[in-house]
Amino acid sequence: MTAHLIDGKAFSAKVRSNVAEDVSKLKDNHNIKPGLAVVIVGNDPASEIYVKNKVKQTAAVGMNSFHFEMPEETSQEELVAKVKELNADPAVNGILVQLPLPKHMDEAAIIETISPEKDVDGFHVVNSGLLATGGKGMVPCTPLGCILMLKDTLGDLSGKKAIVVGRSNIVGKPMAQLLLNESCTVTIAHSRTKNLEDEVRAADIVVAAVGRAEMVKGDWIKEGATVIDVGINRIPAPERGEGKTRVVGDVEFASAAERAHAITPVPGGVGPMTIACLLKNTVTATCYQNGIEI
Ligand code: GUN
Repeated sequence: MTAHLIDGKAFSAKVRSNVAEDVSKLKDNHNIKPGLAVVIVGNDPASEIYVKNKVKQTAAVGMNSFHFEMPEETSQEELVAKVKELNADPAVNGILVQLPLPKHMDEAAIIETISPEKDVDGFHVVNSGLLATGGKGMVPCTPLGCILMLKDTLGDLSGKKAIVVGRSNIVGKPMAQLLLNESCTVTIAHSRTKNLEDEVRAADIVVAAVGRAEMVKGDWIKEGATVIDVGINRIPAPERGEGKTRVVGDVEFASAAERAHAITPVPGGVGPMTIACLLKNTVTATCYQNGIEI
């Protein structure tokens, strides 16, 4: 079997276009323009690129984009004060504080300061609690993108055996909850899992989010399974010349694609969905805040 490629670039463009339509309806029918505030502290180069993209794409779908750059030496109290100011600002419907924060800051305390209704990352304990109990909350963007792609590819997921490799708060745990909410039978694997190979072999759906280059081997994939690769790992690529690198996922792509029914490439799979889902979450938050059904 040669797998169908799940095109995250094309799919994310569709999500963004639906968001732009929703934004336009909010304006026409309710005179509301959603606003997303992004806060970055310090000058981590990767974070700066992510944030620039978020700001650009927010404006592109017709939303207000508020961008705050704070210096590396910003104190915890100053950042808390900024978040509280944004919590109180009616023009701001969504707040994202770019992670990682500088080492002297307490990330968990900052996340808990964000009003849960404006927490478009879905990282606040109120939102993880709502996800775990089947309530209406904000869902973390990367797992939301993965579940949208899975449903688009497979339709009904009910009864399927799914494995999530990785147990982070940002991807692994919420991903497992989303699959459970779709009535999958879910295994969460991690660094202490015994016989990972056999666990992966049993799965109809494999979501790899461990952050280790090509850790999931292609010949572990069950024939006809669907593979979602969340990993973005830069590895040396001497074949491209001295000092060159390339980006690979957490799954051995070529051999997995021989066996899978469908698979996301890296890059061009899950990555582009994350910002699209951030924009979608901002519309969702705006609607919840204004009692508008979506
Ligand atoms: N840093 C890398 N990805 C993310 C994300 O999705 N949200 C936030 N807040 N920070 C990040």
